[in-house]
Amino acid sequence: MNKSLFTLSICLLTSVFPLKAHEEDSSLEEQMKILAKGTRQLSQQIDNPTSQQSSIDLIENLKKAVKVSESLEPRKTVSIPQSDRGKFLAQYHAEMEKLFDLFNKIEGELKGGNYAMAKILFASIKPMEKEGHKQFKED
Ligand code: HEM
Repeated sequence: MNKSLFTLSICLLTSVFPLKAHEEDSSLEEQMKILAKGTRQLSQQIDNPTSQQSSIDLIENLKKAVKVSESLEPRKTVSIPQSDRGKFLAQYHAEMEKLFDLFNKIEGELKGGNYAMAKILFASIKPMEKEGHKQFKED
């Protein structure tokens, strides 16, 4: 293949595929996996003062994952009747905002060195996850 034909092929390929690659990268499942991995790690270090900065960094990452999740739609959305979809998505956004606020509170406690309180607040993530999945995950 000559050089300009090669360059043209690359240009065509990158103009056709980036959207798809982006969609795959930002799928809700991907974000949920980030949440699962990060919260698992946090559960092991949240009350450890020597991990303070690492825990804060982890939470910053989790807050980003929540914001990206909020911008995506659960797969279940398409099975919700059109007339109820707006309400379904508004509830989904509200639940994600609650999770974001909770991470913010936990981060604040960590910054203040209140590890015991951070741990207590951390315990309320699990019920929130359960509720979120019951309402918004496909069966
Ligand atoms: C820190 C809390 C959470 C964790 C650790 C978590 C974790 C997960 C995991 C591991 C999956 C399966 C991903 C896969 O196997 O591909 C998942 C899926 C899902 N989660 Fe969460 N989750 C959390 C909170 C939430 C909340 C609050 C909501 C809703 C407001 C939610 C909505 C969903 C939905 C809708 C799916 C299915 C994906 C889809 O429909 O596209 N999750 N989550």
